[in-house]
Amino acid sequence: GKGAAMVTAVAHRLADQHRAREKVLESLKLSREQLLEIKRRMKVEMERGLSKETHAIAPVKMLPTYVCATPDGTEKGDFLALDLGGTNFRVLLVRVRNGKRRGVEMHNKIYSIPQEVMHGTGDELFDHIVQCIADFLEYMGMKGVSLPLGFTFSFPCQQNSLDESILLKWTKGFKASGCEGEDVVTLLKEAIHRREEFDLDVVAVVNDTVGTMMTCGYEDPHCEVGLIVGTGSNACYMEEMHNVELVEGEEGRMCINMEWGAFGDNGCLDDFRTEFDVAVDKLSLNPGKQRFEKMISGMYLGEIVRNILIDFTKRGLLFRGRISERLKTRGIFETKFLSQIESDRLALLQVRAILHHLGLESTCDDSIIVKEVCTVVARRAAQLCGAGMAAVVDKIRENRGLETLKVTVGVDGTLYKLHPHFSNILCETVKDLAPKCEVSFLESEDGSGKGAALITAVACRIREAGQR
Ligand code: GLC
Repeated sequence: GKGAAMVTAVAHRLADQHRAREKVLESLKLSREQLLEIKRRMKVEMERGLSKETHAIAPVKMLPTYVCATPDGTEKGDFLALDLGGTNFRVLLVRVRNGKRRGVEMHNKIYSIPQEVMHGTGDELFDHIVQCIADFLEYMGMKGVSLPLGFTFSFPCQQNSLDESILLKWTKGFKASGCEGEDVVTLLKEAIHRREEFDLDVVAVVNDTVGTMMTCGYEDPHCEVGLIVGTGSNACYMEEMHNVELVEGEEGRMCINMEWGAFGDNGCLDDFRTEFDVAVDKLSLNPGKQRFEKMISGMYLGEIVRNILIDFTKRGLLFRGRISERLKTRGIFETKFLSQIESDRLALLQVRAILHHLGLESTCDDSIIVKEVCTVVARRAAQLCGAGMAAVVDKIRENRGLETLKVTVGVDGTLYKLHPHFSNILCETVKDLAPKCEVSFLESEDGSGKGAALITAVACRIREAGQR
């Protein structure tokens, strides 16, 4: 009768809705062939970045870092380190010991950088940084002590030596004026002089990927790659000097800061980007830039999820078709929520509680859907990252003419460390796409801070040897 017809109609409608959602999610799933293609394109872009002829127009910049040596255990001394560009800004005091008590000991303090400072003038930003250093020295009872300083500055920089580093462009959440095209060491020194309180000996500027590789290299000599999957995403690795065309010299190796976040900025990933990636990019601080990073890292994954949820809701496929103010709010899905929602130990009720906490009222069905969206978006991110990493390790293997390569990747970043599945999917993907490489991933403990100090220590060791 009539009742049965209605039930059938409802069932049909639900099935249609399910299909409509599946169709969207399908566009975010990558096949093995697609991933191999992405790996292949990454390799092409790496070569274009390294080559003198194409470097200027290459989006993946492949920047020389002037880091050629890994720590050998003989380094020692006290160092200051700054860490700018990750989730937090920190000032650190690092003690490196050699010999029997070989190891690294650290004290650090976290400082916030208010949004208006990140988006203000360069002078304001660097004055704020120097203010934090002054506070730290006071806090440690070290006012007036002058120590060598390593600066982890996690943005694309053109380096002409270890202690000269020209900011090419801001990425992630930063946009302070008057810094692009300037040497960040000069900007820091000028701010120190404006304050007229203390002096610092800036020895090295280091990308966070490089700091992470160095930190892991201190424990594991096979570590020749660094990877960050946090607010942003990037990698570095040891390249043969004869392939580093931007720097004179043929012998040995140099660490290259890839700046792989910019992969795709020339359109070469457009066939894999969805309308949601395009929307997230458009509303970001740097439209058109860092397209690969925007598909992978913590600052953007939540936004991709939010855009999909809005699309579903607009089409009546979620939240009973009602778009709340909360859902319209940028940045509500932080990395930690994405990670929590996907935690296997979590019952659906708890997923609903998290959504409730975010101001999103959901039914049971809604929360299943939200969780699935999170899963698909995070899985794609980990696979893309894996495809990039497969290109890197295979390049190292080919560089050395090896049939097989054993290599360790030092990793840091909130998404990698907090997400329950990211690291597994990444690892499986690399195994699958680069079968001739035996890759281990090693989580760094505070790679950025420790790494900057270790690089500073190595530089001081070499400098002192030169003076002798
Ligand atoms: C962004 C920066 C890069 C950094 C990465 C991870 O991609 O441009 O320098 O390594 O974020 O923090």
